[in-house]
Amino acid sequence: MTHGLDVDRLEMDGLQMDGLQIRAAAPYDAPLFAALHAACFGSRESPDGDGPLNETGPWNEKAMTRFIAGPGTVCLIATIAGEEPAGFLIARTAADEAELLTIGVLPDHRKRGAGQALLREAAEVLGAAGVGRLFLEVEETNRPALALYRGLGAVPVGRRPGYYENGADAAVLRLDLRARP
Ligand SMILES: CC(C)(COP(=O)(O)OP(=O)(O)OC[C@H]1O[C@@H](n2cnc3c(N)ncnc32)[C@H](O)[C@@H]1OP(=O)(O)O)[C@@H](O)C(=O)NCCC(=O)NCCS
Repeated sequence: MTHGLDVDRLEMDGLQMDGLQIRAAAPYDAPLFAALHAACFGSRESPDGDGPLNETGPWNEKAMTRFIAGPGTVCLIATIAGEEPAGFLIARTAADEAELLTIGVLPDHRKRGAGQALLREAAEVLGAAGVGRLFLEVEETNRPALALYRGLGAVPVGRRPGYYENGADAAVLRLDLRARP
């Protein structure tokens, strides 16, 4: 990770809540990231319903390796007691703005604060690097993600009709990184 994003700070001060830890992803996490993406999003991204596209698709191990290597990306992993993977996040910066590319928490670990911890840490790392605004796109029917984003203070700023492969619209939200609750 480059562009002034402070990985060392993250590794030293990793968030810890009831065994939940957030740390920056390392190159060796690429296969885990691909597996987490497949497990978090399931077959929703497969057009034929045969399962996730993570072996050949845009979220495969090779793609994850590129994200983790950067430049300008924030890749975080959530673990329980520093061992069991629970979730992950990828954001990408462009000048003083950033975009959340994906966030996922394994089904068994949902609704226990992991998503919020990942997003809070990303916001902190990005804010510390001088990024002012984080944009988040989400399917308008994705209530958990909307609850997560709105809960941290993100505000709706637009819509992208037919944004997703299935024809669904995307809601676009913005999180001002220096004015979070
Ligand atoms: C979206 C997602 C990452 C949330 O992760 P999570 O760990 O369950 O979220 P948290 O436990 O931190 O919850 C954050 C807030 O959202 C709310 N929330 C979470 N799941 C919810 C649900 N199913 N219904 C309503 N609210 C929900 C929580 O109550 C919490 O609000 P609070 O702080 O007011 O209590 C998770 O549901 C997920 O991985 N979904 C599949 C992948 C996905 O859709 N990613 C987003 C698009 S890229």
